[in-house]
Amino acid sequence: MSNITIFNHPLISHKVALLRDKNTDTKQFRELVTEITLLMAYEAFRDMPTVEKIVETPLEKCVQRVVTENSIAIIPVLRAGLGMVEGILSHFPMAKVGHIGLYRDHEKLEPREYYCKLPENIDKKVCLIVDPMLATGGSANAAIALLKERNCTHIKLMNIICAPEGINAVHTAHPDVQIYCATMDRELNENGYILPGLGDAGDRIFGTK
Ligand code: PRP
Ligand code: URA
Repeated sequence: MSNITIFNHPLISHKVALLRDKNTDTKQFRELVTEITLLMAYEAFRDMPTVEKIVETPLEKCVQRVVTENSIAIIPVLRAGLGMVEGILSHFPMAKVGHIGLYRDHEKLEPREYYCKLPENIDKKVCLIVDPMLATGGSANAAIALLKERNCTHIKLMNIICAPEGINAVHTAHPDVQIYCATMDRELNENGYILPGLGDAGDRIFGTK
């Protein structure tokens, strides 16, 4: 399917293995989420808007492309998406951050919105939605819909683990959205958890269980 990048890169795969391990503690889990996000960000940012800038080296002036000011918004889906923000900001401090709060209703697995705060002029920015898990795709589709309601046209979605069901749901509803995912797992279980997955990403990032 076009617009979908599943990395399956040895370095990323190595870190995903550590992330899945039930013996990985909260601190290491958070560090791994940051590292994997950064490795994926190189690809996701490949087509970011740039402008030419004149730079003076110790030897001479040259023209170098730099990322356009105010062109990027990182949108974590609360809670677990928060774990993917810090790494990107450490490399792209000029990025603005918006927050979308969604939780899955445990019975129907449908997303419920409880918070939405987005940067000004969000419709002019490249919006990178981040969330470690893409399971049924309900949360991602709801986040994308919130951005489209605000006239955003350049939307990307970055996940660490996706289920085939989630990828299909997002790609079908929003074929224009570019999806980046470290790895694709086998399936969802009856509770909407990804198998083999890593468990509940929010709980593992914030140590709530
Ligand atoms: C998790 C995850 C995604 C969502 C994915 O969040 O971080 O947002 O589930 O599932 P879906 O693709 O079926 O919608 P959760 O609802 O557990 O909330 P939390 O981050 O607050 O724990
Ligand atoms: N959310 C998670 O945190 N984990 C899953 O496996 C599915 C949704």
